Amino acid sequence: MVGSGGREHALAWKLKQSPRLEALHAAPGNPGIARIGQCHPAHAEDAESLLALCHELEIDLAVVGPEAPLVAGLADTLRHAGIAVFGPSAAAARIEGSKTFAKDVLEAAGVPTAARLSVARPPCVVKADGLAAGKGVFVCRTQEELDAGLRAAAALGEDVVIEELLEGEEVSLLVLTDGREAVPLAPAQDFKRIGDGNSGPNTGGMGSYSPVAGLGDAEVEELVDTVHRPVLAELAHRGAPFAGVLYAGLMLTDDGPKVLEFNCRFGDPETQSILPRLEGDLLEALEGVAGGRLDGSVAAGDRAAVTLVLASGAYPERSDDRGTPIGGVEEAESTGALVFHAGTARHGEQLVTNGGRILNVTAVGDDLPAARAAAYDAADRISFAGLQYRSDIALAAAEGHVRS
Ligand code: AMP
Ligand code: GLY
Repeated sequence: MVGSGGREHALAWKLKQSPRLEALHAAPGNPGIARIGQCHPAHAEDAESLLALCHELEIDLAVVGPEAPLVAGLADTLRHAGIAVFGPSAAAARIEGSKTFAKDVLEAAGVPTAARLSVARPPCVVKADGLAAGKGVFVCRTQEELDAGLRAAAALGEDVVIEELLEGEEVSLLVLTDGREAVPLAPAQDFKRIGDGNSGPNTGGMGSYSPVAGLGDAEVEELVDTVHRPVLAELAHRGAPFAGVLYAGLMLTDDGPKVLEFNCRFGDPETQSILPRLEGDLLEALEGVAGGRLDGSVAAGDRAAVTLVLASGAYPERSDDRGTPIGGVEEAESTGALVFHAGTARHGEQLVTNGGRILNVTAVGDDLPAARAAAYDAADRISFAGLQYRSDIALAAAEGHVRS
């Protein structure tokens, strides 16, 4: 397992349940993953060290969590050395790595997306072209927001894309794919803004839930037919077949679904709500993708899951809170909730903060209201200086107000 966030902890936790797993190694991992596998101090973006580690440990399957190493070609490096990898090539990962490339592919594939605008005029959305950890997108309804958005995007030193502002309900729909077959995972909703009521700046994601009302198996199949399958065919046609997990961020507008973005990896924090609902053997499915023969079931059970992101006080402006002592994790776990580590470290026996998004608390329940109540009950037991989390994750959905 390559990576160190809450998504990687959730993946490791689920992989650990497979009877096929012999040993789990993570690079670099985190204190949560260290409880279920062995962590090694190799950076996720240091392909040479990771390759050496794979050889030394005789790794049978490398699972790459984050986008940056994929966009930089880690999967190619490992694959060329004969190691089975779950994760797309650099050529296919451009679907996330470049917003202009993604737009070109969408347009060529005839998949609905926000129109590109040649003039920046509110309302519109300003996007920095390259990877920005969810922080390169500025939704501008006023001229002031537009001026600020253009300045902030320019400061990232990337080309800028301007597009139409879409309104509607957002949903994240991920498919596992070996480049040919596409098998959907349960749809999830993510909460991008830092503040309650979707206020404040965009973040990497402050919470998630699954399932999403109105998106049953038939609706999901239709979305995959409209969005993922044409894009996979277009990427293959361009000589960049995509194998791994293709994540579509969709806006369900009055004119139908439109693509906001693609990611070339599992969503964070969507994965933390998707995997606890998954009934099949994840390891078998990921091995199938890596081997070009996707099989195994990734169907979700009937229960619901809600994930809360516990962030440091300065997030998202800063993601470098370090060394602040964290308390209450065991009390939270004693409620039956899952606590995934996202940005933590250990100083001796003491768990401390190490990042912006620090912990993820996930609870599963018979329905969304039950899962939501359990997630908040567990999260309320955790404390550290500056701790912030949204109080309205999955609230509208639990009250039955999510339209789709
Ligand atoms: P992205 O990284 O492109 O998904 O953008 C991050 C977030 O910005 C999305 O999840 C949406 O909440 C918002 N967003 C992006 N593009 C648009 C758009 N065209 N219209 C409205 N909101 C958008
Ligand atoms: N939660 C949004 C993302 O993973 O990009």
